[in-house]
Amino acid sequence: MNDFDTQTGTDLAVAAHWLEAGACVAIPTETVYGLAANALDPGAVVRIFTVKNRPAFDPLIVHVPGIEAVERYATDFPAHLRALAERFWPGPLTLLLPRRAVIPDLVTSGLPRVALRAPAHPVARQLLSRLAFPLAAPSANPFGYISPTTARHVFDQLQGKIPYILDGGPCAIGVESTIVGFEAGQTTVYRLGGLAVEALEAVVGPVSIQLNQSSNPAAPGMLKTHYAPRKTLILGDIRANLARIGGKKAGILSFTPMPGLPPEWPQVALSATGNLAEAAQHLFAALRHLDQLDIDLILAETCPEEGLGRAINDRLRRAAAPDDE
Ligand code: TXA
Ligand code: MG
Repeated sequence: MNDFDTQTGTDLAVAAHWLEAGACVAIPTETVYGLAANALDPGAVVRIFTVKNRPAFDPLIVHVPGIEAVERYATDFPAHLRALAERFWPGPLTLLLPRRAVIPDLVTSGLPRVALRAPAHPVARQLLSRLAFPLAAPSANPFGYISPTTARHVFDQLQGKIPYILDGGPCAIGVESTIVGFEAGQTTVYRLGGLAVEALEAVVGPVSIQLNQSSNPAAPGMLKTHYAPRKTLILGDIRANLARIGGKKAGILSFTPMPGLPPEWPQVALSATGNLAEAAQHLFAALRHLDQLDIDLILAETCPEEGLGRAINDRLRRAAAPDDE
């Protein structure tokens, strides 16, 4: 499908023009690039599913300018979630709130809640402030693949399928937003992401974590195998796994630089200093890079299970999950 001569640029007027005409445009956010369309127009939203090859049972996040937009799209705003929005919006936090009928069924896959997020990226904010509608936007990658963190990543995969990529530079956070709702009297995290659980808990106290580990996405959350490179990824102790892979050629994805590895193993370290925010920022570009090399598999290790390390480890585990689960 090559419907468009895809342009990449920084022109907000061009992006707005295409969106107003019902087309999809890739936009930068501080987490990952999104594939945006008018969230209130089912005809525009359906194009997102076509371009991404995304199944219609996977609902979309609606991007709004700020907290004042919530009442237009949600019937209720539980106090804990309002407190989180007041503290962390604009930012890498998505809230699941009971939807109003103005949100098309296609956006929520018929689920009772709508996912709302006010992104912090200045280009996304400027774009949203000049549009008369919010933007439905999943990550701008083919369904199941690694999310894009640069305009170039988007171009490499969606070239010809969309008219315009709004370039806002590399994404500062690098993993998707943290998804939070309020269920049975508890603040509940459904997806670990760019806002650390510790930061949420500092505002609302202990949260419940309910990550969808099954391949049944009817519950909010995600498919188990997701964010995946095409190459096999083996997660665990890198040196022990290197000793086990026989004659295969492996690429190494380590948290910090690993000295003493044979130079024939291509190696990417996520952070020179062991900084988890830096590691998150580099994660998806590193996976893409290794996925393109002439190697048989990727050997990766987890990061410390704290702060953004939890989101990094979640993505690595999903990337490593066998395809048949
Ligand atoms: O950082 C992000 O969240 C990025 C940027 C572009 O904002 N977006 C993103 O969207 O990661 P996506 O489509 O790749 O992931 C959205 C996930 C869905 O897979 C689903 O798990 C959850 O959000 N979700 C969205 N709407 C929902 C709803 N109405 N009920 C339950 N879960 C929902
Ligand atoms: Mg995605």
